[in-house]
Amino acid sequence: MDNFAAGTAVPETELDAAELEVPARILPVAELHLHIEGTLQPELIFALAERNGIALPYAGLDELRERYEFTDLQSFLDLYYANMAVLQTEQDFADMTRAYLERAAAAGVRHAEIMMDPQAHLSRGIPLETCVNGVASVLATSQEEFGISTLLIAAFLRDLSEESALEVLDGLLAMNAPIAAIGLDSAEVGNPPSKFERLYAKAREAGLRLTAHAGEEGPASYIIEALDILGVERIDHGIRCMDDPDLVERLVDARTPLTVCPLSNVRLRAVDTLADHPLPAMLAAGLNVSVNSDDPAYFGGYVDDNFAQLDAVFELSDFDKARLAANSIHSSFASEERKAELLDELNGGEVAHP
Ligand code: HPA
Ligand code: ZN
Repeated sequence: MDNFAAGTAVPETELDAAELEVPARILPVAELHLHIEGTLQPELIFALAERNGIALPYAGLDELRERYEFTDLQSFLDLYYANMAVLQTEQDFADMTRAYLERAAAAGVRHAEIMMDPQAHLSRGIPLETCVNGVASVLATSQEEFGISTLLIAAFLRDLSEESALEVLDGLLAMNAPIAAIGLDSAEVGNPPSKFERLYAKAREAGLRLTAHAGEEGPASYIIEALDILGVERIDHGIRCMDDPDLVERLVDARTPLTVCPLSNVRLRAVDTLADHPLPAMLAAGLNVSVNSDDPAYFGGYVDDNFAQLDAVFELSDFDKARLAANSIHSSFASEERKAELLDELNGGEVAHP
């Protein structure tokens, strides 16, 4: 295709049939479940380590990539937190954010709600200002530069205490951090939503939107707690709701958004294979599900890769693809005006996804 890029005419006989295929239109989507620290690609980890004079415990890219064989959520979290050591300066956080937005734009993302883990940086001696300002400095120009509207979600580590979370929320509010919402992530089992009742009450009082990981590895009852005790508007993951038919009915009736991450669920062994993923059953049940990438550098793909692999296994109909994209837009915390713009863009074209 280089000849086309250079504007050189190529005799038709020299064209490969595959090159003549018109690529499927990439649907505009909102990415609602994305950990910015989970976008650190191996190459960037090494580049930042070199820039900051940090010795990594891997000899090279291949040795690092060999560690991306996860057995469960905790085995991933151990590597995810360890690799954050390379994030030292505002510039590091900015470079990571820029790399994500560039790739997300190519994946069809037009609105991104980006989680970050401030406690994972504070515990390494990195001030709140460094991580928040580094990420926020790039988000500020994202719509202009990448066509992606954004908002920032401060996620709290549920394996730490509620006191720690409250202290960090205070710090974020005191510095007037540009956060729109809070979330709850990290090791789920044994750390139920009820542990964070005061944190969510405080965030609600501060006018923040509320979401929480629930029902990834943890039971359906954690989803109920997140709704009833924390008052969340959205559930991150939520796949375990399928174990509880009454809960499914409740989620369908309330149109509660579930930000599902299929490749993440496969890589963290929440499901055996993609063919075993409950997404088609969730759609069939009428649940308000969207497709998201979670930690794309670790789980083998961005939103477009998630769609492509789902499509390869389940042969999603155009209607279902469009429904997933529309759900993501409706479920976002974007302004009504921005949602209308994105829905117009979605409805304006054919409905096919790579
Ligand atoms: N689950 C819980 N915590 C996380 C994840 C996840 O998939 N990614 C980053 N923190
Ligand atoms: Zn997540």
